[in-house]
Amino acid sequence: MDLMEKIVSLSKRRGFVFPGSEIYGGLANSWDFGPLGVELKNNIKKEWWKRFVQSREDIVGIETALIMNPKVWEASGHLKTFSDPLADCKECRERFRADQLKNKKKCPSCGGQLTAARQFNLMFKTFIGPSEESANVAYFRPETAQGMFVNFEQVVNSTRKRLPFGIAQVGKAFRNEITPGNFIFRTREFEQMEIEYFIKKEDWEKQFEKWLKEMKQWIKHLGIATKNIEVIDIPKKELAHYSKRTVDIFYKFPFGHEELYGLAYRSDFDLKNHNQSYQDPQTGKQFVPHVIEPTWGVERTVLAVMVESYKEEKVKGETRVVMNFPNWLAPYKVAILPLSKKAPLIKLARGIYKDLLPHFVCEYDETQSIGKRYRRQDEIGTPFCITIDFDSPKKKDVTVRDRRTMKQKRVKINKLQQYLNETL
Ligand code: GAP
Repeated sequence: MDLMEKIVSLSKRRGFVFPGSEIYGGLANSWDFGPLGVELKNNIKKEWWKRFVQSREDIVGIETALIMNPKVWEASGHLKTFSDPLADCKECRERFRADQLKNKKKCPSCGGQLTAARQFNLMFKTFIGPSEESANVAYFRPETAQGMFVNFEQVVNSTRKRLPFGIAQVGKAFRNEITPGNFIFRTREFEQMEIEYFIKKEDWEKQFEKWLKEMKQWIKHLGIATKNIEVIDIPKKELAHYSKRTVDIFYKFPFGHEELYGLAYRSDFDLKNHNQSYQDPQTGKQFVPHVIEPTWGVERTVLAVMVESYKEEKVKGETRVVMNFPNWLAPYKVAILPLSKKAPLIKLARGIYKDLLPHFVCEYDETQSIGKRYRRQDEIGTPFCITIDFDSPKKKDVTVRDRRTMKQKRVKINKLQQYLNETL
């Protein structure tokens, strides 16, 4: 099994990610996040929000509708230009993104002839109300960004924020991708964490570099090694319709170096098209601010941290699979494991579990041998296992096992919460 297969299999077996609608035969490239996956995803989104919104005085958050007035997409240019080149195989009918093909004429699946590429719009169409008429056509948003642009003046008026400042949003985006794939890497429904950082035109280069630095620091915080990251300047002719400069941050995924995040200088393109402007409180001058846009994909973050954290080690002739997540990312922080199912141990263990539950995301497990239970927790990246043994009721202490070192330490039960707080 290659690394990607191992991660897909572990994800399903342990409840990180399940194939979507599986009991009905699945739905191509749709995935559901299980009990561990949702914790991991929420940890990423919560940390991002705390770091880029709540801890900063220059950024505020909003949450806007997934379906917006179609005029938004006319003004933003998405209806006209948000497309990928599509080619069909005349033999097997498979469809491809023409820009990703080495040979633009020959089908990579069956060798048949390909049609000439035509532009395919990626917007997800729907209808508002009971009748499916063209007047009722609407679109699911393909990026969270436009919700921030169309609310620019409302945010300024309600918060009195002054340039430079940012608006942040976390939420779903939808794209009718021609070739989704590679597990949760490219899907038709995904989440973005985006910031539109509004500036004066003359500051764009300085702010662009500042944000690139911020993004690199975030990647480090995820525990991702710098050697696995590459920053690529997108050539002018490949830039999105709104961008004056974009860098993509690539990660070394098992299937190749691919885009993890992006950073774009969108100039005044969007605010101008939505007729939004800003009045300088000092000079009274009205103008259209420019914008720097750092953007993060949530699912790609999940995949990158799983790839980066996955390790196999030989321990006493056996393979130990361990997810070396940074503690803040781990879905469960603590597992409570009584050594036997006998009454005094269970009573004590359940009491400890109940005491810790309001403070840490915990799991309680009394099945199978203790060795197997440790391995199960290693595999999902739980930083600490608390074992309640036969000495615990008398001595009023437990052992705390560290996932990274596998070392154990005895800690008094009444000091457990403080110990975990300090070490986590
Ligand atoms: N507002 C700018 C924007 O949407 P993008 O590069 O098209 O830029 C931003 O998307 C991020 O969203 C990407 O860097 C990636 O992390 C994530 N992303 C884009 N398309 C995706 C897809 N089909 N599946 C999963 N994540 C995707």
